[in-house]
Amino acid sequence: IQWFPGHMTKARRQIEDKLKLIDVVIELLDARIPLSSRNPMVDEILKGKPRLVLLNKNDLADPKATAEWVQYFADQGLPAFPIDAATGTNVKEILPRVKQLWAHKIEAMLRKGINPRAIRALIVGIPNVGKSTLINQLAGKKIAATGDKPGVTKGQQWIKVGTEMDLLDTPGILWPKFEDQMVGMRLAATGAIKEELLHLDEIALFVIKYMVQHYGAGIQERFGVQDLPDDMDNIQEMVKVMEAIGRKRGCIVSGGKVDLDKTSLIIIRDLRAGKMGRISLEKPF
Ligand code: GTP
Repeated sequence: IQWFPGHMTKARRQIEDKLKLIDVVIELLDARIPLSSRNPMVDEILKGKPRLVLLNKNDLADPKATAEWVQYFADQGLPAFPIDAATGTNVKEILPRVKQLWAHKIEAMLRKGINPRAIRALIVGIPNVGKSTLINQLAGKKIAATGDKPGVTKGQQWIKVGTEMDLLDTPGILWPKFEDQMVGMRLAATGAIKEELLHLDEIALFVIKYMVQHYGAGIQERFGVQDLPDDMDNIQEMVKVMEAIGRKRGCIVSGGKVDLDKTSLIIIRDLRAGKMGRISLEKPF
């Protein structure tokens, strides 16, 4: 999806329509880039609904960074924890945490002698963050359409998650913040923005630079590069690094030159597939 003001207004209206039916919101973020994968107006759009923050794709994220992010959200009064929607890791924790958020309402109903109904929940998040995958995990069967390209979510019904929670079968789709170039880079590197829309070499350079700065030890082995430049902002030096990686990975075109586009794509795909280890591209402090 390419977001224009009209799309954002429509997306917001659609979420506001759903919110009328909802008790608790499950906000899905990418554990590798929690703030960059967050809608800039989410507090305003959700208008104080009880909310649980889930840091998804934690299988790809740096566990130390994730622990810091959990603390970051807790400090803001938002309960948060990591999950892997794809494998189902920690997904069983969701229902008890949602129940905690709604417990005061259930107690109030019981006090009035009303039989409490199932808690109604909605998953919201930016494209490709794993909303459909999580819905399928919670449903225990394949319902929502999933795909590795942004913008695949279709179909509206309630899905029973046990007897205590009903989940709306279509998630709320939010737009990310694009204004900040670094945010755009992180979204692109993790796959939240379609590859066709990007300059691959810029993203690959961003990834290398971030990894050298934050995952310095062992970086040479990871990339198969002997020497790393002192000045990471020197583009010629960085191109040499890219060429070294490309040569190592066999991205050679005729005449022995390195195919930098192909090298960039390999770097980005390896990162997204977790082949470079568990890497987070954003830290809270
Ligand atoms: P839209 O339909 O575009 O709004 O996307 P969505 O938020 O519904 O995402 P979807 O569930 O389609 O997942 C996007 C991609 O992320 C798919 O390729 C999933 O397999 C992958 N994915 C989802 N959860 C995880 C996870 O926990 N770990 C990893 N590694 N991949 C995941």
